[in-house]
Amino acid sequence: MRDKLLLQLSTFSQEHLLAFWDNLSDVQQANLTAQIQEIDFPEMEAMFEQSRAQENLKKLAQRAMPPLAVRLDSNDPPYTSEQAYPLGEQALAEGKVGVALVAGGQGSRLGFDHPKGMYPIGPISNASLFEILFSKIQATGMSSGTAIPIYLMTSPATHEETVDYLKTNRWFGLAEEDVVVFCQGTLPAVDATTGKLLLSDHDSLFLSPDGHGGMLAALDRSGALGDMQQRGVEHLFYFQVDNPIATVCDTHMIGCHILANSEYTLQVISKQDPEERVGNVVQIDGVTRIIEYSDLPADIAKVRNSDGSLKFWAGSIAVHVLDVEFLSRMAKLHNALPIHCARKKVPFVDLAGDPIDPTEPNAIKYERFIFDLLPHAKCSLSVEVDPAVAFAPLKNASGATADTVEHVHHQMMELHRSMLRKAGVQVEDGCRVEISPLFAMTVDQLREKITPDTSIVEETYFR
Ligand code: UD1
Repeated sequence: MRDKLLLQLSTFSQEHLLAFWDNLSDVQQANLTAQIQEIDFPEMEAMFEQSRAQENLKKLAQRAMPPLAVRLDSNDPPYTSEQAYPLGEQALAEGKVGVALVAGGQGSRLGFDHPKGMYPIGPISNASLFEILFSKIQATGMSSGTAIPIYLMTSPATHEETVDYLKTNRWFGLAEEDVVVFCQGTLPAVDATTGKLLLSDHDSLFLSPDGHGGMLAALDRSGALGDMQQRGVEHLFYFQVDNPIATVCDTHMIGCHILANSEYTLQVISKQDPEERVGNVVQIDGVTRIIEYSDLPADIAKVRNSDGSLKFWAGSIAVHVLDVEFLSRMAKLHNALPIHCARKKVPFVDLAGDPIDPTEPNAIKYERFIFDLLPHAKCSLSVEVDPAVAFAPLKNASGATADTVEHVHHQMMELHRSMLRKAGVQVEDGCRVEISPLFAMTVDQLREKITPDTSIVEETYFR
């Protein structure tokens, strides 16, 4: 086997991967062989070439325009709520909507040593992100009279613990056959100057998750895409595990998506600050794209319209609706998603077999982003939403200036107080309240459950 591998590797100048072969046990040799056989070496070479000639987004951004969008404050929106809601409701009732939840990331930025979805985010309940989001799917299914399948993406680092956790908690009320868990792929990290693959140990390559764009190949490979087609799911509501107030299966958004014949619809917020840390949804040469905040030059981000509003106002909250037919077309396309390269510090084992912990970025990690499918969509649309009711991402450890657990708690309780007040309940300012999605998801549902003029003066969890 060694000679066969060596021949293959030498074609791509990667023979160093076998540097410790003779000292490995049979099991270790088998593991390393399996990892090497998974690698598409010509593709790796092409990716390394690309990393040297990355698309110049900053230059492209010069030609950017705002996207086609359904705005919140428009007097003349392309699609009205009256048109959109019934269509969204109908698609849900007919079982045409499925949910894709990407949860491959670990809570490292958060300082949490488990899959991020397990983070106990409920301000009073301590319910985890998974519990809250799964309850929303269950509640939406109950009100539309149909079970909504969820396609949950994990990564090798989060898969086992996630599945164990969900099983132990009986899939948080969803039927087991409606929870399809699939694992995303990985890509090797390479030395930034030579393009040589890095070893994390004598018998193992350094592999990292291939980004949320890895969902496209993983849906296809795992059979999840086929499962959607078999169930008659036509629209996939995609969102991230870090946002507990996401409006799961937003009826208005799904309705607009259908009205526009869109293949890829984005939920967006109106940015308050030009350099807000969200992806910017723009149109370049008539094609919708997302340019990450780090890639949009500050002078362009700051351009304002005559009324003072930001020209590039649309921030992506990573909530999308994608057509299943579009996804299956894309899955058949070779390299539908470009590769993104990031210079990172990657610990590795050098040729002498010593572990090296670099102090400066030494490697390139590769990732794909799902929203890079946008230019392939025959039609796309952005739908604006109020961030106060739909976007409270948990990203950072306490002490950071934004997106910490304290920020999320504050925003969840503000939202729930405001929903209660709209339902006629009196709530003291600052009173800690939380509403379980299984109790009510909307103000109308709250009205059915609570007598008006009830007064809430102490911490209350509605469940
Ligand atoms: C992301 C978006 C940004 C958007 C913001 C909203 C990117 C590049 N940027 O930023 O446009 O405004 O969210 O909150 O996506 N994930 C996987 N597998 C991976 C990598 C990520 O499943 O290999 C999942 C994570 O679990 C998470 C989500 O993708 O649910 C987002 O990843 P993260 O790295 O946190 O994205 P952000 O940089 O915060």
